Amino acid sequence: MTSILQHLAHLQGGHLPEFTPGSVWLAGAGPGDPAHLTLGVATALHLADVIVHDALVDDRVLALAAPGAVLEFAGKRGGKPSAQQADITSRLIELARQGRRVLRLKGGDPFIFGRGGEEVAALIAAGIPFRVLPGLTSGLAALALSGMPGTMRGVNQALVLATGHGADGEGAPDWAALARLDQPILIYMGMKNLPIIAAALMEGGMQADKPAAAIAWAGTDKQRRITATLATLADTAAQAGLEAPAILVIGDIAATDFRGL
Ligand SMILES: C[S@@+](CC[C@H](N)C(=O)[O-])C[C@H]1O[C@@H](n2cnc3c(N)ncnc32)[C@H](O)[C@@H]1O
Repeated sequence: MTSILQHLAHLQGGHLPEFTPGSVWLAGAGPGDPAHLTLGVATALHLADVIVHDALVDDRVLALAAPGAVLEFAGKRGGKPSAQQADITSRLIELARQGRRVLRLKGGDPFIFGRGGEEVAALIAAGIPFRVLPGLTSGLAALALSGMPGTMRGVNQALVLATGHGADGEGAPDWAALARLDQPILIYMGMKNLPIIAAALMEGGMQADKPAAAIAWAGTDKQRRITATLATLADTAAQAGLEAPAILVIGDIAATDFRGL
């Protein structure tokens, strides 16, 4: 066992979990910096034969793979051809049936807007043994890393995670219902549809001057936060040249700025 594996084993009660050949571990790498990895995922990176990863997994995380491990890109951005979800699940099954230890690594958490549920359903249908390792989801990390407590006594009693993908299409959140809750909303994949989302929330009754923020590239050297109001967030983001990936924060917590050192 290499010294890093010995160290990881020590931190996990003296033994490593068994990564059985022919199984798939679906794991979340957190956003950006390897400091956001769990010990379990760091261990999986050292044990896997093949790592099938998304574009949002940081290169510094992939550098922790064992020297002989094969890295396969299966992302949906980054200027590379888009992988279809069905192709990705087929590939995971194929690799597992070849007897590999397969790590399916996603940015953030695999079960938060990561299509991890669909991948696990496909593994179950194919009879492939699997394990799910949680990761730090980018929405929650973006809050802490940009000085915004997700909950504050006297400010909010709930926190909503929503998708902005297909904001006004079928399967979109009920923005009016979310506006009525009057609790902070963290919106993933919302940059493209930001004007539509803001308009829908205001139509639903949310105040135009509700504090709002966007945090791009949380956990990386490119992290940026802008603060505005619900009515001005889209223009402020455009003027600042803020680009995806970003988390939108709509609600009173967005007015807080507790950034430290
Ligand atoms: C397909 S979702 C994946 C979410 C991921 N499973 C998670 O738990 O963070 C992609 C969206 O996550 C958000 N995201 C992912 N990484 C981010 C980062 N480093 N900074 C800000 N937002 C990020 C963005 O909203 C992006 O459009």
